[in-house]
Amino acid sequence: MFDLIDKLEDKETLEREEWITLLSAYQDDALRDYAAQKARAVAQSVYGHDVYVRGLIEFTNYCRNDCYYCGIRRSNPDADRYRLTKEDILACCEEGWELGFRTFVLQGGEDGYFRDEWYEELIHEIKQRYPKCAVTLSVGERSGETYRRWYEAGADRYLLRHETADDVHYRSMHPQEMSPEHRKKCLYTLREIGYQVGCGFMVGSPGQGPEQLAQDMEFIYELKPHMVGIGPFVPAAGTPFADKAQGSLELTLFLLSLLRLQEKKVLLPATTALGTIHPLGREMGIRAGANVVMPNLSPVAVRKKYALYDHKICTGEEAAECRAA
Ligand code: 5AD
Repeated sequence: MFDLIDKLEDKETLEREEWITLLSAYQDDALRDYAAQKARAVAQSVYGHDVYVRGLIEFTNYCRNDCYYCGIRRSNPDADRYRLTKEDILACCEEGWELGFRTFVLQGGEDGYFRDEWYEELIHEIKQRYPKCAVTLSVGERSGETYRRWYEAGADRYLLRHETADDVHYRSMHPQEMSPEHRKKCLYTLREIGYQVGCGFMVGSPGQGPEQLAQDMEFIYELKPHMVGIGPFVPAAGTPFADKAQGSLELTLFLLSLLRLQEKKVLLPATTALGTIHPLGREMGIRAGANVVMPNLSPVAVRKKYALYDHKICTGEEAAECRAA
C-alpha cells in the first residue's frame, strides 16, 4: 500500500483500481502518517512554511437551490435569512485589511436579490480601495456572461465546489433541476475566462465511497484547479440529510495528503468544517499538507445564520479569538 503513495508522488496519478485500494485503507494510521509526511514535505518544498490567509465574508444566506445536505437550502424553514449591504461588506474588508488580510472571499447562496451590476460595483469599489488585494467570488452557478462581467470588473478568483465528480452520486444529493454537467461546465468556463479556480467536495457525504472519491481525484487531475476545498460532511438540521453520519476526520486528512501529492502546487485550505469536527482539525489539516486558512470576516451578528451545517465554529459572540483572526 505504501508503494501506491510513492507512485502517486512520482507519477501524480493512479489508476481507478489503485485509488479504490488506497482510499479503502484510510483507517491505517501508519499509511496516513506516511502520506502526511510526504505531503507536508511537498507543501514545504513548494511554499516553504507559509500558510496563506483568506478572509471569508458570508454576505447572504438566501439561496434558490435546495441541496439535500445544505443548511441554507431554500426549503429549510429554520434558516434565519440575512443579507449584508455593500457598506457592511466594505466594513468587513476594511477590518480585514487592517488585520493584514489581502484576499477577500465573497461567499453567499445563489441569491437572486443582488443583480449582476451590484456585484460589479462592489468588486470595483473593493479594488479601488485596496488595489493590491485579490477578490474571490463564491456565489454558485451563473451564466458565462455574468462570470465574464465580474471578471472584467476585477474579480480574480472563483470558488465553486463540484461537490462530487460522480454524476449519479451528484443527482442523489441534489434536486432534479441541478445537474452535474452544468456544474462542471461552470468550472471550465471560469477557467477559460481567466479566473483562478477552486473546486472541491465534501468527504463522507451520503452515498460516497472510494469509487466516488477516485472520480473526484481524476476530475481534479483533469481540471487542474488552483485550489481544492474539501471538508467533512457535517449533518445540518432542517435538511433531508440531517440524520446521516458525519464524514471522517481521518479520511479528510488522508485526502488532503493525497491531493497534495497529486497536485503539488495546489492551494489546499484547512477548512472550517474540518475545524468543526475536531478542535485541532485545521492544524491537523496543515500537518497533512494543507496550506491555506480562511478565517471568517463576517460580522459576528450574522455568523450563526450562515449555517451550512450544525455546530459550525467561530459563530458565538463570546468567540473573541475568532472575530477576525
Ligand atoms: N457539511 C459540510 N459541508 C457543507 N457544505 C454545504 N453543506 C455542507 C454540510 N452539511 C459545503 C458545500 C458547499 C460549501 C460552501 O459548503 O461543499 O460547496
